[in-house]
Amino acid sequence: MGRCIVVTSGKGGVGKSTITATLGVAIAEAGARVALVDADVGLNNLDLVLGIESMVCYDVTDVEKGRCRLSEALINHPFCENLFLLSSRALSGGNISMKSFAEVISALRQTFDYVLIDCPAGIDDGFHRAVSASDEALIVTTPSPAAVRDADRVSDLIGSYRLRRVGVIVNMVRGDLVLKGEVMSVGDVAGVLRLPVVGSVPEDDEVLLSATVGKISDSKSRHYAAVCMIASHIMLGTNEIYDCTAKYRGIVGFFRKLAR
Ligand SMILES: Nc1ncnc2c1ncn2[C@@H]1O[C@H](COP(=O)(O)OP(=O)(O)O)[C@@H](O)[C@H]1O
Ligand SMILES: [Mg+2]
Repeated sequence: MGRCIVVTSGKGGVGKSTITATLGVAIAEAGARVALVDADVGLNNLDLVLGIESMVCYDVTDVEKGRCRLSEALINHPFCENLFLLSSRALSGGNISMKSFAEVISALRQTFDYVLIDCPAGIDDGFHRAVSASDEALIVTTPSPAAVRDADRVSDLIGSYRLRRVGVIVNMVRGDLVLKGEVMSVGDVAGVLRLPVVGSVPEDDEVLLSATVGKISDSKSRHYAAVCMIASHIMLGTNEIYDCTAKYRGIVGFFRKLAR
């Protein structure tokens, strides 16, 4: 029986979909079978982040309505043989019930090692549907006070679901500003949320550049390196957290800080 992990946040735009997709690639590249589920019915974009939007024919609501089999709705990523996507297009219409969604996730867990759910922003039905079908959660936040406050609210709500594991990923960390003491550090964020840190991911222009051409960030990027550490944390229980400030330490780092 595979593990089902919901990637959630509270605030939108903090990098949930990007992290879900890249984490899926990192875990799949490590040899496990991964299904990514876009639970953001209507505002789905996991297909775009993965660069496979033209391959989407059926989605999760088509499966629920019996218009196709689950296996027909799963898209195998062309460049990553262990990675599959179950999309959720706006045009398929209709809202999926909590029970049907849970049934689809349960079926996926029979054949995949990991099911990662990209949760919609906010705390509406879509959030509860995704969390109730999962047994672990990753709360993504940036170091901004607004994102951390929303993550805190989400953390409280998740508490009532008694998930097996809940951790935080701090995304878009500007190491130069952390060293100058101008933004919250990863430790500060974890302290406010009272949650274990599963990962820290730097703000990286490579993500924006890759997203513009519809592909996942380059495997040599800082972003991918940070997400690979999160994958090892999840798969092997390692505790290494990417140091977003390393680039700005020492004499070279000093000039990098000045240059930003
Ligand atoms: N670590 C990062 N560094 C730079 N840009 C990022 C990073 N993570 C995400 N982004 C960018 O931030 C925007 C929002 O990301 P997205 O994954 O769509 O957020 P969400 O799913 O939480 O709404 C996108 O343009 C994405 O490319
Ligand atoms: Mg998203």
